[in-house]
Amino acid sequence: MNADFLIHQELETPIPIMVEEELTWKEPVQRVQALAEKGLKEVPPSYIRPVSERPCLDKQIHLGDDGSIPVIDFSGLEDHRREDTMDQISRACEEWGFFQLINHCVPVPVMDRTVAAAREFFDLPLEEKQVYANKPWSLVGYGSRIGVTEGAILDWGDYFLHYLWPLDKRDVDQEWPRKPASYVETLDEYTHALHNLCSRLLEALSESLGLRKDYIGEIFGWPDTNLVLRINYYPPCPSPDLTLGVGSHSDGGVITFLLHDNVPGLQVRKGDRWLLLEPIPNAIVVNIADQLQILSNGRFKSVEHRVAVNKDTVRMSLATFCNPDVDTIIAPAEDLVNDDNPALYRAMTYGEFLESLCRDGLKGKDYVESFRR
Ligand code: OGA
Ligand code: NI
Repeated sequence: MNADFLIHQELETPIPIMVEEELTWKEPVQRVQALAEKGLKEVPPSYIRPVSERPCLDKQIHLGDDGSIPVIDFSGLEDHRREDTMDQISRACEEWGFFQLINHCVPVPVMDRTVAAAREFFDLPLEEKQVYANKPWSLVGYGSRIGVTEGAILDWGDYFLHYLWPLDKRDVDQEWPRKPASYVETLDEYTHALHNLCSRLLEALSESLGLRKDYIGEIFGWPDTNLVLRINYYPPCPSPDLTLGVGSHSDGGVITFLLHDNVPGLQVRKGDRWLLLEPIPNAIVVNIADQLQILSNGRFKSVEHRVAVNKDTVRMSLATFCNPDVDTIIAPAEDLVNDDNPALYRAMTYGEFLESLCRDGLKGKDYVESFRR
């Protein structure tokens, strides 16, 4: 999911095809949580996916012949395991685009309190959440869909989105939940821990590409690179085999960090198959997003993923997208390009990239590939 592509407009970069005044909800916005709480026996037609997109729940693949999504012990970077750990990171980024990070230094109590605070917000009565309802031209706030296209197939989930970082873009008073009372303090603590992790990980990723350790950070404006939080709430669903919590997509930014409540549901693409990520308690799921695929000239993969939902259980996740500013110019790193490895992508600003994404929508990975030279 690209959390920035409509926010983009709030940064006053005009997108010709998406003029704010023209954007209105063409049909009433339905909260999936409210729909699920009615105890429906069937999924309404607008949430039903074509057969080719359905999640195949009866034969979800956990461990395929290809192995499973790597688990990386981040503390290995600090001792004699460093070289081996760097190797594992490189391979995970090149072959999977996804890994689960353990011993990452984000304190477990902070993670637990963060997930709990998000849950408490979604447990509030509908009217209290509606106050934050987002606008058709912005993803910030309480939302249940992306885009206004009439008759679109909808995701079986609601979300709440706001900036965590930098401080001058986060509007705690207007845009963060005021309940539970602990929300601001808890999320602030999480933000600082995550910022620190992201900093160290971007250095490791630079090194693993053979670049100066500050390289990736500098390109993307670190330490002020945007961290945008999307809390996902996937209610129980009468027919989880017909629908998805989030349709197939790759994330548009630099890198994404995911906390969740240990309920399985995230599926990651490996070749022509979908693997179910098996939650490891206290791990943080990390995935490479499109801008790192471009910067690494295709060496790191920004991989498609999607979310299956459950019949009886709520699932919650908190995705933090690390996104550049719209005027950041992104191109394959010069040191990675030579006669044998020509640049696969042309240089463009992140804003240009988002424009194409707005035009073409969130459809698998077509838009990254459209920037191939
Ligand atoms: C997203 C996403 C995965 C999940 O929000 O972009 O991919 O497990 N979420 O909720
Ligand atoms: Ni995603």
